[in-house]
Amino acid sequence: MNYLTREKLVIIGAAGMIGSNMAQTAAMMRLTPNLCLYDPFAQGLEGVAEEIRHCAFEGLNLTFTTDIAEALKDARFIVSSGGAPRKEGMTREDLLAGNAKIAAALGDNIKKYCPDVKHVVIIFNPADVTGLVTLVHSGLKPSQVTTLAALDTTRLQSELAKYFGVLQSEVTGCRTYGGHGEQMAVFASTAKVKDTALTDLIGTDRLPREEWEALCQRVIKGGANIIKLRGRSSFQSPAYVSIEMIASAMGGTPFTKPVGCYICNEEYKNVMMAYETVLDKEGVHTKEVKGLAEEKANLDKSYKHLVEMRDTLIKMEILPPVEEWHKINPNL
Ligand SMILES: NC(=O)c1ccc[n+]([C@@H]2O[C@H](COP(=O)([O-])OP(=O)(O)OC[C@H]3O[C@@H](n4cnc5c(N)ncnc54)[C@H](O)[C@@H]3O)[C@@H](O)[C@H]2O)c1
Repeated sequence: MNYLTREKLVIIGAAGMIGSNMAQTAAMMRLTPNLCLYDPFAQGLEGVAEEIRHCAFEGLNLTFTTDIAEALKDARFIVSSGGAPRKEGMTREDLLAGNAKIAAALGDNIKKYCPDVKHVVIIFNPADVTGLVTLVHSGLKPSQVTTLAALDTTRLQSELAKYFGVLQSEVTGCRTYGGHGEQMAVFASTAKVKDTALTDLIGTDRLPREEWEALCQRVIKGGANIIKLRGRSSFQSPAYVSIEMIASAMGGTPFTKPVGCYICNEEYKNVMMAYETVLDKEGVHTKEVKGLAEEKANLDKSYKHLVEMRDTLIKMEILPPVEEWHKINPNL
C-alpha cells in the first residue's frame, strides 16, 4: 500500500478530541505508516490507540507513549493539539497563560529530542501565541512552524455559501488574516461568489451591508457557535484541516489557505499570525497581503492585539524579550 512518506509523524494531545480525530484522519489519508501518539493522559491515550487498531489500517505501525522523549525520538513531523480547550463563555485568550507554558515545554523538548524535525503544526489556543512560543523555544526556522488559522477562512466560505445557496466550493478566494480569534481581519476583496466579486455584492439588494456585517460576526464567532451547538469546542474541522496542512509539508498537495506563521517584515514584526501563505515540502512561504485600505486597517488592529498578548508573555517571563530571542533561537 502506498504512503506519502515513511517518516515518523507524532500527534501530541492524541487522547483528546482533536488529537484522536487527527490520528484517524492521518491513517485514512495514508500519510505515513509510522504514526506515534503522545498524551500525558495514559488511559485515554490507550483507548485511542485501541480504537485505531480496531480500524485495522493496512500496514500501519502505530505506537503510543506518555514519555515525550520516546514520542519525539526520530520525529520528522509533529502536529500538536495538546493543551486545554475553551469552555462556554471563555475566549481563546483566557487560555493564554496555561497553554503558553505547555508550548514553551514543547519547544524545549523539540530542541532536545528531535532538532531534525521537518515541520510542526500547532493547534492549541491561542494558537498564534502558542505557535510563537513553540518556535522561539524550539530553535527551528520560521518556515518550519505553522499554526492552524484556516478555519476562519473556511468559516467565511461556508457562511457565504449558506447565504447565497451555492456549493461551498463555488465560493473562492476567501481570506481572513491576523489573529485567530475575535480580532481576526475578514477580507472581502479577495473573494468571489461563483464568478462575481464579493465586493460587487456587498451593499446591493443581494447582500445589504448590515447582512454582510452580521455574516462577518458569524464567521468571527464560528468556534463559539460550535461550543453552543455541541456543548464542546470544535474538533472535526480542526483535525481535518491540520492534517491537510501536515500532508502538504510531507510533500502532498500544497496548502494555499492562510496559515499562521512567523512574520517579521516592514509592517509587522516578531509575531505569528494568519497571512497570505503557501505551505509545501519546503515549509511555509509568505506572500504579499492584498486588500482595501479598510481591510488593511483591520489587519493592523489585529496585529496590535497579538503584540499585546506577546508582550504579556514576555512580562510573565514565558518568552524572553524580543531582542534576546536569537540567544535561544539563532534562526530568529
Ligand atoms: N486553532 C484552531 O483553529 C483550534 C480549533 C479548535 C480547538 N483548538 C484548540 O485545540 C486544543 C485541543 O482541543 P481538544 O478539543 O482536542 O481538547 P481535549 O481536552 O479533548 O484534548 C486536549 C488533550 O491535550 C492533552 N494535554 C494536556 N496537557 C498536555 C501537555 N502538556 N502536553 C500534551 N498534551 C497535553 C490532554 O490530556 C488532552 O487529551 C485546545 O486548546 C483548543 O482550544 C484550536
